[in-house]
Parts: sequence; C-alpha cells; structure tokens
Amino acid sequence: MASFEYRDGRLMCEGVDVAVVAREAGTPLYLYSAAELRSGYEAFAKAFAPLNATLCFSIKSLANLHVLRLLKGLGSGFDVVSGGELARAMAIGADPKSIVFAGVAKTDREIRQGIDAGIALFNVESEPEFENLARLAAEAKREVHAALRLNPDVYDPKTHQYTATGKKETKFGVDINRAERFFDAYGRDGYVKLDAIHIHIGSPIYSPDPYVEAIRKTLDLIGRLRGKGFAIHALDIGGGFASNYEENASPSADEYAAAIVPLLQGTGLKVYLEPGRKIAADAGLLVTEVQYVKQGAERPFVIVDAAMTDLIRPALYGSQHFLYPVSLTDGRAVPQQRFDFAAPGSVNVDVVGGVCESSDFLAKDRPLPPMKRGELLAVFSAGAYGFTMSSQYNSRPRAAEVLVDGGAWRVIRRRETYEDLMAAEQ
Ligand code: LLP
Repeated sequence: MASFEYRDGRLMCEGVDVAVVAREAGTPLYLYSAAELRSGYEAFAKAFAPLNATLCFSIKSLANLHVLRLLKGLGSGFDVVSGGELARAMAIGADPKSIVFAGVAKTDREIRQGIDAGIALFNVESEPEFENLARLAAEAKREVHAALRLNPDVYDPKTHQYTATGKKETKFGVDINRAERFFDAYGRDGYVKLDAIHIHIGSPIYSPDPYVEAIRKTLDLIGRLRGKGFAIHALDIGGGFASNYEENASPSADEYAAAIVPLLQGTGLKVYLEPGRKIAADAGLLVTEVQYVKQGAERPFVIVDAAMTDLIRPALYGSQHFLYPVSLTDGRAVPQQRFDFAAPGSVNVDVVGGVCESSDFLAKDRPLPPMKRGELLAVFSAGAYGFTMSSQYNSRPRAAEVLVDGGAWRVIRRRETYEDLMAAEQ
C-alpha cells in the first residue's frame, strides 16, 4: 500500500492529508487511491500477460462509476452478477465483449439485458437456467455465448465458510461430475453457443494451490469434452485473489500467475479472470471519527461514527481489518500492518459503531493507542466489499466516497441525506 503512508505524523494518501479530506468531506468516509487501483490492476495485467487474458474487474467489490471508468481506461473488462451491475458497466461505456455475467438467480429481465447488450459470456449455473437462456435467445433471435460454471469441489481452508464457493455443497455452479451430461444435453444449441467453462472457487483464496487443483480438474474435463467434439474456446478462472488485511501476507499477482500461467499456456483457451478484492481492497480506507470512549466490563469501547452498516465484514465474517489513528500525536509509533503489532502504550479495545446490534463492531479486543473523542481512525484494506455491502439500517445515510488522484481529491459519491433515505417512499 505504497500510496498510504504516515509523513510527519499524518496519514497521507498520494501526498494528500487524509485528515484534511475527512474534515472537509465529513465522516464516515470511504477514501480510495487511484494510484493504488491502477497499480493493482497493472500488476495483474502484467502477471497474466503471457496468456493475453482479459481481466474482468468484479464490480461487486467496488461499484462506483468513477472507479469503473478508471479501470476501463486501463483496459479492464467487468464481471457482473446482476442487472444493476450490468447497468453500471454499460453506463460507463464498457465494451460488452469484455463483460461476463454470473449468478445463480438471473431473471428473464436480466438475461434479456445481457442479450441486448451483447455480452461476452453468460456464466450459466444450472440446467434450468440454460434452458431459460436458450428460450430467451431464440425469442430474440440472437446468438449468445455461454460458459458452464463448474463447481470443481476444491477450497482453501483459510476461506470463511460464507465466502467459500468451490465446495460441492454450495449453491454455485454445476457439480463437475454432471458437466459432461450438461454438454451432451445443451452443447449443440442453435442460439446459445456453450463453448466455455467458468470456475470461481471462493474468496479470498490465500494460496495459488486451490487454483492449480481446480484448473487441473477443469483441463481434464475440457480434454474429455473436446474429445467428444465440443469446441471449448474459453476458460474463466474467476476471482478470489486475496488482499492483505491484517496479516499483510497475501500472495502477489506474480505469485498467483507463476502457478497458473504455465497450466494454461498452449491450451488454445481464451482466458478470463475476475479479480475484485486484490485490486480494490488495499486501495481504500474507511475513515471514521471517535465519538466516545467508554469503559466496558472487560475492555474500553472506542465508539465511532462508522458502523456495521458501513463495513459489515467484521460482523459477517469475523474479518480483521487493520485500524490505526490518522494522526500520530502524543508520540504514537508509526504502525506496521500486522496482527502482532501493538504500538507502545496500546491497550486492547473494542471498536464499535452506534447500531443496535451486538455484532456491530469494526474490531474486537484489538491493541490501539489511547483514543480521544473527535480523533480520526483509519480502517485499512476497506476498498473492496466495504461501501458495496453498506446499508441504511437504523436509517443511517450511507457514507461519502472520495477518490484521491495525483495530489488532488474529489467526492465521487456524495454522502446520502435524510431525503435520500425517504425518496423512494414518496
Ligand atoms: N467472480 C465471482 C463469480 C464471484 O462470485 C466473486 C466474488 C468474484 C469473482 C470476485 O472475488 P474477489 O476477487 O473479489 O475475491 N463479501 C465477501 C466476498 C464475497 C465474494 C463473492 N464473490 C467479503 O467481503 O469478503
């Protein structure tokens, strides 16, 4: 996260003082670094260049139009999972041939949207979905391309059960043992060219090994399918590449690529990837202001103006986001983003929001220098699945989003107002 650093005791993003932005734009605030987004994308593009792969940024991780536009400018395609995400991609003028569409519950309306747009691939997750897609494509008299989403039955033991998708008991895709039957039944449709395979094994995946296992299984299957005369042109290997969070220990794009690229070279497959988190997570901070510090029975509570409504990952998955004061006053040490890091003088605290739920916390039992009312805290690695999973629960307007780019910053989503909360009910 080279773009975020403490200078003279102040947290800076690309040379911009985070505290100054937070005071002007208000808190809670999502703040993204354009430089970090670019370097995250470029690292992937470079690592997978030998495959001439198409990177389809996963919109669900960070959906702001300004961010999508920035990534499109670098050549990114997009992974969408809803009509809303497809609408976002189309709104920024994405090339439809760089859009892949997954999701187990695609409605007729969403499928028609994809057909009209002329997207690259429908990632089909079940037999009835294929039949529905075939019906709608025939109705529209439009040829479309589809990938069968496989469930390769592999997973990373470090992935939370709620975000593991590649095990056979999950709802995603079709069991690899059913894949040949699927092609026998649907592989020669007139309008839907079933000529690709999609896998996405979970998120985050902290090692290249599960990808290797899943891709090997998939290549065996592709060999068998080709043997039966099915032309398989493309393989979409999904997303799931881990970012740093508290551990600062995720593989680099190069390390993932070193294991994956050799498996796919010379296969004649057009390769798609769907990274989200690895590009977006470390590019974003959630900045929040301390409202109160109160003594609890076990530990002090640092009560902040952000809550689970702004960042639900700790409540939902027990995720550990590194957090630290924005200003290093009172001789606070410069932090290192590590689990075992405790600045001298730190005490263990719970950092909580104001929502009426016991699961409303940003950190539990975490060492933090003593904090005072009015001070700012930065929650790191919050760029992915932060704002996009936020809600208005407790009638809390959603946070503002700011993009810092080359020494300047601008609001890319204004803070919601009370009127916004009620607008759809008028
Ligand atoms: N492709 C598909 C089909 C997916 O389902 C996902 C994520 C991705 C790509 C992107 O995965 P990424 O590269 O960002 O890891 N809310 C959870 C993560 C859920 C991921 C859902 N699918 C979290 O905050 O950790």
